[in-house]
Amino acid sequence: VTRYRKEKRYGEEELQQLREALEQGTLFYTQGKKVTELESAFARKYCAKHAVACSSGTAAIHCTMMALGISPGDEVIVPPITDMGSILPVLWQGAVPVFADLDPHTYNLDPASVEQCITPRTRAVLAVHLAGNACDLDVLKRLCDSRQIDLIEDCAQAHGCTYRGRSVGTFGRFGCFSFNEFKHISCGDGGVCITDDDDLARKLRLASDKCYDRSPTAVDRSPTFLAGNYRMTELQAAVAIAQLGKLDSIIARRRSWCGRLHERLVGVPRLSRPSITSGCEHSWWFYMLRIDRADEFCNALKSEGVPCGAHYIGRPIQDYPLFQNHAAFARGQHPFSRRDYSQEQTPVARQILDTCVIIHANEGYSDEDLDHLVTCINKYMKAAK
Ligand SMILES: Cc1ncc(COP(=O)(O)O)c(C=O)c1O
Repeated sequence: VTRYRKEKRYGEEELQQLREALEQGTLFYTQGKKVTELESAFARKYCAKHAVACSSGTAAIHCTMMALGISPGDEVIVPPITDMGSILPVLWQGAVPVFADLDPHTYNLDPASVEQCITPRTRAVLAVHLAGNACDLDVLKRLCDSRQIDLIEDCAQAHGCTYRGRSVGTFGRFGCFSFNEFKHISCGDGGVCITDDDDLARKLRLASDKCYDRSPTAVDRSPTFLAGNYRMTELQAAVAIAQLGKLDSIIARRRSWCGRLHERLVGVPRLSRPSITSGCEHSWWFYMLRIDRADEFCNALKSEGVPCGAHYIGRPIQDYPLFQNHAAFARGQHPFSRRDYSQEQTPVARQILDTCVIIHANEGYSDEDLDHLVTCINKYMKAAK
């Protein structure tokens, strides 16, 4: 029996879109129609006023930082468990990442810790909706609004996740999504930013395209701020359009599979299930539980063919040599050098990483796979008593 078979990601729909893109005779976003079509479809799907496509999720986050004018020495509050793509854009702006601690059960930012991290230099909070579970957005938004701090949502792992009935990504100034190969939907690499703010949307576009104003009404195209080249091509957009059409079905099947797994793990001793944030409909990019002796548990499951891994990113991000050694550049100082990251304690994040096991999720997994997984977990629990 082939177990845990992932669904084939790309098929006829993507091929058809690619054919149309190539037949346009141009792959540049202002000359072809695919990037514009993707942006319209994405904005519609997420009920946002604007969507700007770019080359990756990391690029999407960087564009928001440029559009907001995050500058050298500013502080941005971030979580210690995420992908480096959340953090790099802060550093590229010369700004200083400040690591707040996490909730032990949702694995997302703990608003009380965020509040403690706020200083007069704080400009933004980057709320990462880890694994498809929403942050405590009511509290974070209230906190940010009351302190005039911008809230940016990193939804790279949270396509299709909702909070109080609304898509995540629509609560902060920006929502940033990734289409990299491993996300709910993919075009190999790509990203998109959503916002309801007209002026920020214009700046986002400039930030992604060398600060050239290519709008038909532009009188002077000369760059006015430091931007990147993070453009999406027509080929990426073509694939992403086809993928967006599959999103609802992908989310529904992940919700069903992981939702049933979540139910069946109720009452399993010594195993701590993830908490779903109140008001959130989780979109399950992966299923992360906590257990002592995570390596032993994970190895037992792996030996039975269960796709899983222990400890996720291994250690909190501020423990990476980049931060401990302030090693941004070969020479010269980056503003983050003034911060001693060896003192940046996030004990809950550390405990989560020490004890977490990720069960990989996929829309192609079957009912038999679910039975097999639960059987393996129960078998381990009995043997390990
Ligand atoms: C939470 C989070 N933010 C940002 C990124 C960066 O996205 P990309 O790989 O498209 O640059 C990722 C990708 O793994 C992610 O998981």
